[in-house]
Amino acid sequence: MIKAISTKSLEKRYGNSFTALSDFNLEVEKGSIFALLGPNGAGKTTLIRILTTLMRQSSGEALVEGFDTRFHGREIRSLTGVVPQENSLDRYLTARENLELHGRLHGMPAPVLRAKIDELLELMGLAGRRNDFPDTFSGGMQRRLVIARALLHEPKLLFLDEPTTGLDPQSRRAVWEYIRSIAGSMTIFLTTHYLEEAEHLCDRIAIMDHGRMIAQGTTHELKKPLTGGTTYEVEFESDASAFFDLVKKMNCVKGFSFEGNTALFRLESWECLSELASGLSGAPVRRISLRERTLEDVFIAFTGSGVRE
Ligand SMILES: Nc1ncnc2c1ncn2[C@@H]1O[C@H](COP(=O)(O)OP(=O)(O)O)[C@@H](O)[C@H]1O
Ligand SMILES: [Mg+2]
Repeated sequence: MIKAISTKSLEKRYGNSFTALSDFNLEVEKGSIFALLGPNGAGKTTLIRILTTLMRQSSGEALVEGFDTRFHGREIRSLTGVVPQENSLDRYLTARENLELHGRLHGMPAPVLRAKIDELLELMGLAGRRNDFPDTFSGGMQRRLVIARALLHEPKLLFLDEPTTGLDPQSRRAVWEYIRSIAGSMTIFLTTHYLEEAEHLCDRIAIMDHGRMIAQGTTHELKKPLTGGTTYEVEFESDASAFFDLVKKMNCVKGFSFEGNTALFRLESWECLSELASGLSGAPVRRISLRERTLEDVFIAFTGSGVRE
């Protein structure tokens, strides 16, 4: 695996007492889309700040494109683009001027910069608004402008800190479409609360909480240890509780509950389904469906259901 990011025992303390990142180990493969999930306050933004050299770790090592964050800030900043959690656009500059300023700060020659700005404004669907100020933009348009800015100097690695938080469903979809369209040409590292989106878009996912890595892998790998049998949903034509006695006797059923006409059966394994089906033969069954574990189940199982501020 060629690594775009690798951290070893990374640690960040704010002040003397509070540890925001603790013994954090992470590897992100070059060219992949990697999602970091975690409740508010987990330490996601702290990690991105360290990886983009906006902040220094307290101890441990972080390599970005092979460069050490402690010694090669300039190299790392030229190879990475960042979409910060807050939009951070200059409200006194037009959309175009915001991009121009960023390009100049990155030392891009004027003709290259002009062409690149036109291309990105077009790609992000903002060409018609190039001379308007960000304050007149919707949340989704501002986000797209920040993404355009992050892509301007053609980074090899793009960081997106909650790129779709606070956007309406249409804008969220648009932002994900753009992310998908640039994927493959660079490594993408993002944080999000939208687990379903992460599930569909990302190659690998990590879950962190309280500054620590809790689990990482593909969606499939993350779901595996949790399955604990399979759950089937059975809909009857009438009240499901009437079939209680029938079900009670079945060995393969490890648990069940019912609500109205629907019953949930937890089976030891999917092979038990035929036993369940024959046990229910004669009963007025309308529908049997597999209840799939979602990434949200995984997330809640690892981080608990308490609300975070
Ligand atoms: N500059 C700071 N000074 C002190 N504490 C901070 C600072 N920035 C973040 N924190 C704390 O560190 C923890 C992690 O924050 P953050 O990295 O922003 O989490 P996330 O992005 O996952 O919501 C939180 O408890 C937060 O309050
Ligand atoms: Mg954050």
